[in-house]
Amino acid sequence: MSRKIIIDTDPGQDDAVAILLALASPEEIEVLGIVAVAGNVGLAQNAINARKVVELSGRTDIPVYAGCARPMRRTLVTAEHVHGDTGLNGPELPDPQVPLQAQHGVDYIIDTLMNAEPKTVTLCTLGPLTNIAMALIKQPEIADRIQEIVMMGGAYFEVGNITPAAEFNIYVDPEAANVVMRCGAPITIQPLDVTHMIQSTPARLDAIKALGNRSGQAVYDMLTFSEGFDLKKYGWIGAPLHDPTVIAYLLQPELFEGRHCNVEIETASELTVGMTVVDYWHVTDRPRNATYLRSGDADGFYKLLTERLARLP
Ligand code: RIB
Ligand code: CA
Repeated sequence: MSRKIIIDTDPGQDDAVAILLALASPEEIEVLGIVAVAGNVGLAQNAINARKVVELSGRTDIPVYAGCARPMRRTLVTAEHVHGDTGLNGPELPDPQVPLQAQHGVDYIIDTLMNAEPKTVTLCTLGPLTNIAMALIKQPEIADRIQEIVMMGGAYFEVGNITPAAEFNIYVDPEAANVVMRCGAPITIQPLDVTHMIQSTPARLDAIKALGNRSGQAVYDMLTFSEGFDLKKYGWIGAPLHDPTVIAYLLQPELFEGRHCNVEIETASELTVGMTVVDYWHVTDRPRNATYLRSGDADGFYKLLTERLARLP
């Protein structure tokens, strides 16, 4: 039985790889729809990028929606410095022919959860949590109908990437992250603590390029563009690959390890706003509201990713 998912995303090269991994795995994953959110770049461009990736995969049956154009309270912070001016710099992908759905992405999320059997739809979030939070605020009943929220976001042992304390997805909309972390739905977090282990080394990228298909070439071009900022920043032999770990968790959860604990979001302090405060050692009696993953098997991840990309056009 495949798992039904909605992907909420701000593509971004790593988001694109996550979408491709999901669409290459139809036996295990049924992608119901993709919803764009403002994040890496503005909403309109993220929605265009999501449509480009759907067409790259050949799965033009997958509907793409646009959600919220800015965070709940704060001014949008974007990441062109990492992802390029289009948010998907690297490959030359044609302008998308698949349409953008007319329905607002937040309403699509609400309608899908209200119409599906309870606990049968998983939300995979790859960007700021604005759409999910707004759906929870507009229709609180969906909280009990969500099978699981699997999110890329946060950091604790590896600290922040956009500030010393905060990871980008949480930092962009900390109020939204706070709403989501308190909603009561089962939550699994793929933080920087994991993704910094999942490094796209030259050998791993060369294996993807060697697939010889358009998807492999596009992924190679995407990651060799977006890795530049992180290679310079961290001095590693490979840049961390973030968002595809969300999909890999659905496919092979045994690749990752972590524990159920309390995760809270700092929303007040200007110094640490957006920080995920993780009670990993259970030193408080705060509710254990998330499975916080702390490590991942990089070789196993890239074996899975490369095998699945080989299935695409
Ligand atoms: O901090 C990494 C996250 O921020 C990833 O989702 C990347 O796409 C950016 O959105
Ligand atoms: Ca992202």
